[in-house]
Amino acid sequence: LKTDILAANTAAPDIATWDSVRVAALGKQGSITLLLKTLGGMSPEERQTTGARINRVRGEVSDAIAAKKAELDRASLNAKLASETLDMSLPIAGLGGGSVHPVSQVMDELAEIFADLGFAVATGPEIEDDWHNFTALNIPETHPARAMHDTFYFDRADGEGRKMLLRTHTSPVQIRTMVTTPPPIRIIAPGRTYRSDSDATHTPMFHQVEGLVIDRGITLGHLKWTLETFVKAYFERDDIVLRLRPSYFPFTEPSMEVDVGYTLVKGKRTIGGAEPDGWMEILGSGMVHPKVIAACGLDPNEWQGFAFGCGIDRLAMLKYGMDDLRAFFDGDLRWLRHYGFSA
Ligand code: PHE
Repeated sequence: LKTDILAANTAAPDIATWDSVRVAALGKQGSITLLLKTLGGMSPEERQTTGARINRVRGEVSDAIAAKKAELDRASLNAKLASETLDMSLPIAGLGGGSVHPVSQVMDELAEIFADLGFAVATGPEIEDDWHNFTALNIPETHPARAMHDTFYFDRADGEGRKMLLRTHTSPVQIRTMVTTPPPIRIIAPGRTYRSDSDATHTPMFHQVEGLVIDRGITLGHLKWTLETFVKAYFERDDIVLRLRPSYFPFTEPSMEVDVGYTLVKGKRTIGGAEPDGWMEILGSGMVHPKVIAACGLDPNEWQGFAFGCGIDRLAMLKYGMDDLRAFFDGDLRWLRHYGFSA
């Protein structure tokens, strides 16, 4: 009996067969269990010798069965590990990497172009107070320009009683820079700006880049050269004509709006060309108003400068031929792919 059980146990190819061998030998109705039950009907002497033998056999059989179980478990674990092996050398399916949004890309380009001209990048908060956004920029409480800005105001004022708002332009960064940094100053300040306005060419959140130069003896000539150099570098061509139109901003005097010439190429407006077919407005600029310089604690008789403010989204649209500003902020991958901004 023992030899038969041990042979069947050794031969068991899997857990199911092994378990039936175990039950057949050691289960409630198993051959060895039944054998043990016969002890009851024996004489004490017989029981002693036969009982010892049966128990020895039972011990050997259950050891062998336990060993077989361990062997089968090891084998099944090995098989499982083998089947779950990953081949790290296989090429992966294309995941389509992330990409830089056109607006961020233009901001990076601007920072690079102006870095070559010696401008640092400055930043300021998007939640501003009305002193930095308006008052220090020579736009007092009653000034009509405040109404023109379609400002988003917060319900509560700050600790000093200043009205809080979402900045309507990047010009408050001019103020923050002049207040904290001794001249000479050469900075650009790109960032988000907000106005309560929405159509194909306006979104409530949009982007501007501010430029500010403060030094001794700065003139309109410096402004014109800087803008020309910047626009040529940005549109990557030399045959670009700028038109400076007299305009009005409370914080610059004189003020001008700057148009860039376009030519019609196969009916499409294309920035550049020595003899423009028309003009597109790209920025506002001027010589920093003496009152603004004084509001920042500087002496306007010693320090002069120029400033400009430019819509970044519009710059991106002009360079990459996009026509609906709102699409910039929809986050639609198909749109980004169409313009080559996503894999
Ligand atoms: N802040 C002005 C605007 O948002 C632009 C500007 C900036 C004009 C600096 C002149 C100088 O329209």
